[in-house]
Amino acid sequence: SAVAVGVGNVALDVARILTRDPAELERTDMPQPVLDVLTTHTVADVWVVGRRGPHHASFTTKELRELCALDGVQVTVDAGAFEGIDEADLDRRTRANVDVLRQAATRVVPEARCRLHFLFWRRPVAIEGDACVRDVQLERTALDAQGRVVGTGDISTLEAQLVLRAIGYRGVPLPGLPFDLERGVIPNREGRITTEDGHPLPREYVVGWIKRGPIGVIGTNKSDAAETVRLLLADLADTPRDDAEDRALLDLDRHLAERGLHPTSYDDWRRIEAAEATRGEGFGRASTKIEAWAELLDLVALDRPGGPPTPADRDG
Ligand SMILES: NC(=O)c1ccc[n+]([C@@H]2O[C@H](COP(=O)([O-])OP(=O)(O)OC[C@H]3O[C@@H](n4cnc5c(N)ncnc54)[C@H](OP(=O)(O)O)[C@@H]3O)[C@@H](O)[C@H]2O)c1
Repeated sequence: SAVAVGVGNVALDVARILTRDPAELERTDMPQPVLDVLTTHTVADVWVVGRRGPHHASFTTKELRELCALDGVQVTVDAGAFEGIDEADLDRRTRANVDVLRQAATRVVPEARCRLHFLFWRRPVAIEGDACVRDVQLERTALDAQGRVVGTGDISTLEAQLVLRAIGYRGVPLPGLPFDLERGVIPNREGRITTEDGHPLPREYVVGWIKRGPIGVIGTNKSDAAETVRLLLADLADTPRDDAEDRALLDLDRHLAERGLHPTSYDDWRRIEAAEATRGEGFGRASTKIEAWAELLDLVALDRPGGPPTPADRDG
């Protein structure tokens, strides 16, 4: 039995990997040691636990629908989870999520291989066990008058041997740059960093979650990066540069190596890709991911001018 805490897309990813038939995962590029563990440890029950209701979950509907339609998986939603939800008040995504969960809970899967339980209005208050997890204590929750999640003191115990957190992310400050403590982002306008009161900081840029917060799918990050890079290139074209700076830019790898930084190139990426294909062949699979950071660094260090990875590289 496994518990994922949080009701966002990471919790769905966790639940999908744990409930899928391991034989199907052989077709993915999942690292072999991970597949071995999933094959030898049968997961009978996966609990996805939310501290608020199904209409507060941040799932995207497509991902939720796919998970709820997996072969051989019986979905359950705890009794009462839908009580008090007025669908007329919900936006499109939320209404669709609630519908998917309602329908999944009524679908009976004969001879199910495993069960996927959505448990709402609960929060973990303790994880018990000595050498490994034995159970999780969950407290029933409610919203107070200000709409904050509060515990009701009603505790139940869920037996589990694995607990995973999927409670989202938060940005952390970088030395020398402004930071919006409330939102956990670096203040910026379309990727150009600004001071907290909105003045642009020349030649400083951000992309991704540190720019707009930990939300969105991979496609969101692509267009987000394109926006920043467009502005960066426009600023570069407008910036007078001296010869020395131009030379440094032309030999960027050397410039970075002098500062003890070793960038990874597209050729490096291809070397990793080829090594992953070779490794996959050995297991009779198309390709398997290399999951160890140190191993990846060894692969890309083979012919790089800066030499083998430094301890700083290895620390990530
Ligand atoms: N397939 C994909 O494209 C894909 C896959 C994975 C992730 N993503 C994206 O990556 C982003 C991050 O996803 P995520 O799932 O990590 O985060 P998320 O969408 O922010 O969801 C976090 C969940 O954790 C709960 N939570 C937060 N703090 C908690 C606490 N202290 N105790 C109990 N529950 C707590 C939140 O509940 P409250 O709402 O009550 O705070 C929420 O249900 C999202 O934008 C997601 O869409 C996309």
